[in-house]
Amino acid sequence: MAPSFDDGNSLFNFVVRDGNGVKGMVDSGLSTVPQAYMQPPIERIDKDRARKHGHPPIDLSKLGGPEHDEVAKQIVRAAENLGFFQVVNHGVPVDLLESLKDTAHDFFSLPAEKKAVYRDDVSPTPLVNYGTSFVPQKEKALEWKDYISMQYTNDAEALQHWPEEIRDVSLEYLRTSMSMVRKLLQVLLENLGVKPEDSMIDVLVDKKMVNMNYYPTCPNSDLTVGVGRHSDMGTLTILLQDGIGGLYVKIEDDSEFGKKGEWVEIPPVPSALVINVGDMVQVLSNGKYKSAEHRVRTTRTKSRVSIPIFTMPNATAKIAPLPEVVEKDGNTLYKEFVLADYMKNFFSNAHDGKKSLDFAKINSA
Ligand code: OGA
Ligand code: NI
Repeated sequence: MAPSFDDGNSLFNFVVRDGNGVKGMVDSGLSTVPQAYMQPPIERIDKDRARKHGHPPIDLSKLGGPEHDEVAKQIVRAAENLGFFQVVNHGVPVDLLESLKDTAHDFFSLPAEKKAVYRDDVSPTPLVNYGTSFVPQKEKALEWKDYISMQYTNDAEALQHWPEEIRDVSLEYLRTSMSMVRKLLQVLLENLGVKPEDSMIDVLVDKKMVNMNYYPTCPNSDLTVGVGRHSDMGTLTILLQDGIGGLYVKIEDDSEFGKKGEWVEIPPVPSALVINVGDMVQVLSNGKYKSAEHRVRTTRTKSRVSIPIFTMPNATAKIAPLPEVVEKDGNTLYKEFVLADYMKNFFSNAHDGKKSLDFAKINSA
């Protein structure tokens, strides 16, 4: 039986500890949002005031063709300013995108006990983790989101350990995405004056993770967030979102994309994927490419799914601004660090905008 959600402890036990998630709470019949999910006014999202990002998606089939330079320029400009862009003709079959979204809905509709076996402390494998919010133990207000996260090591381990309901489509998504990721990195690195070797790109995308996010309907969607303000910690993120919308990005500096401090929505575009720059690319580029702050609102009438692939270097990799860039810039904004240390810091704090990057900043005030 569902407990009283007015009591913080019993809510925590039901949603987080027992693995019922926000989904379980909503399914038990909720008419108002519990206190634990109410965001302070400054974090609430005023959807009527946000502008939609109007740039058309970038056509990746033109890379390597006569319009290569123009397309490369579009990618670079987006990475330098907004830190987000959308792509089409990305190599991931469009019917696979549809299956992924359906599969995510089916998975989160499973009984709680099917999902809860993958909770952090009981999961039969370190590769798979099911949870809710981001770091519920540390958050002042919880995020209205459940997720499952699958780390990729190799095909055999994925086939053995990933949940069978979602394994095959997730693996196919990863398989068909990676050549696009490599091409994008090639373009971004070349623009920095680096001739990227395959081995360098191998290092940058050594670790890969496929997540499925589930944002249940919310009775007071103005008071909650699906995901709070954060940047992604890795190299590049590939995100499949469904048609519901609600992903917002903050503009860091005035540019053709908008005014500094403004939040713009990345609107759903059928068959497109969203790409965003992660903290590692911001560091490597000595701040030229922006790992943008972003967040997700909740919706009242329909549950939303999104399926990101996170790429990042190996845990032991040493990360620092690229020497070619530092030489040209005459200064370095970030110190060298080991990826595992960065990650530990990232995952031990609640989402707080771009604060994660302070870990690497030189002279951070
Ligand atoms: C994330 C994220 C956005 C979305 O998982 O890091 O920002 O639209 N997701 O779900
Ligand atoms: Ni994100």
